[in-house]
Amino acid sequence: MTTRILATSPLVGPALVDLGARFPDLRLAPFRSLEWNAALRETEALVVLVSEPITEADLEAAPRLKAIGTYSVGMDHLPLRVCQTRGITVVNTPGVLTNATADIALALLLAVTRRIAEGEALLRRGHWKGWAPDQLLGSGLAGKACGILGSGPIGLAFARRAWALDMTPLFWDREGRGGEVDFGVGRAPRLPLIDLLQRSNVLSLHCPLTDHTRGLIDRAALEQLPRGAVIINTARGGLMDENAAIDRLESGLLGGVGLDVYEGEPRVNPRWLQAPRTVLLPHLGSATVETRAAMARLLCEGLAAALAARGGFPDPGSGGPGERSERSEQVVPPDSIK
Ligand code: DGY
Repeated sequence: MTTRILATSPLVGPALVDLGARFPDLRLAPFRSLEWNAALRETEALVVLVSEPITEADLEAAPRLKAIGTYSVGMDHLPLRVCQTRGITVVNTPGVLTNATADIALALLLAVTRRIAEGEALLRRGHWKGWAPDQLLGSGLAGKACGILGSGPIGLAFARRAWALDMTPLFWDREGRGGEVDFGVGRAPRLPLIDLLQRSNVLSLHCPLTDHTRGLIDRAALEQLPRGAVIINTARGGLMDENAAIDRLESGLLGGVGLDVYEGEPRVNPRWLQAPRTVLLPHLGSATVETRAAMARLLCEGLAAALAARGGFPDPGSGGPGERSERSEQVVPPDSIK
């Protein structure tokens, strides 16, 4: 049997099934299973998850590969430079997970600062003895500065949420631009990184992991934050030196950390599990039914269109199910390979 599209797992909603109905030579095989490895040789398109890193060796083993679709907006698990060299189109899912991801960042921020998990655990363990003046005191957010790394759609959406809490958004972006950012309900300055860090009572990470941003929040950067600052990371674990952050939590210099992503996940640095004032989630940023279904639709339509453009596949615009809401196909966005 030939395999033209090789997917590693079902996706949420009907999009992948619809794609399979149109292209019956779509096959499902678990990532790196014998079947998946064997099918690579004849595969023209891969569908992978954010947790499934593709290597240059995989591309070598797939001489007919024309496109890779990732069920994510992030592409740091793909060898983008090699894809570009080999003319392999990369399809991702921008746009549709903006609100869901900003929501989870907000949930983490409130959970850390208002000690939600500790309060819940106290009650569930049957240890709650009743209201007390100084019980589980957190810290308020109104009037505080919220530093946002990245002024893409998710950074802007998080800024709107911070603004709604009466916080003052501040931006930094990896292009190092100055000026102001219009985040929809207001404008905020774009600052050099060191200035932003020194002013941020809350620091929320919303930039992609690239060669340029890896380790961006290192020990020296952490030292710039005001005492008691809170860090929220819903982007990628590799943006921050986790051990340095844990050291500062343990010494009381950081007020709290809320994480949805981890360096080397699903492995989690065991020190996080013991660290005080942390809230830890298992990479749930895009995990709503609506968002994951929209991601699947965007991915499948983008992949079919990319293959049609490369020849041999019918154009998905000619009668395929669903409506194209965003355009996701691209060879490689230039700033992803800096
Ligand atoms: C992404 O899309 O990059 C998220 O990390 C997972 O949905």
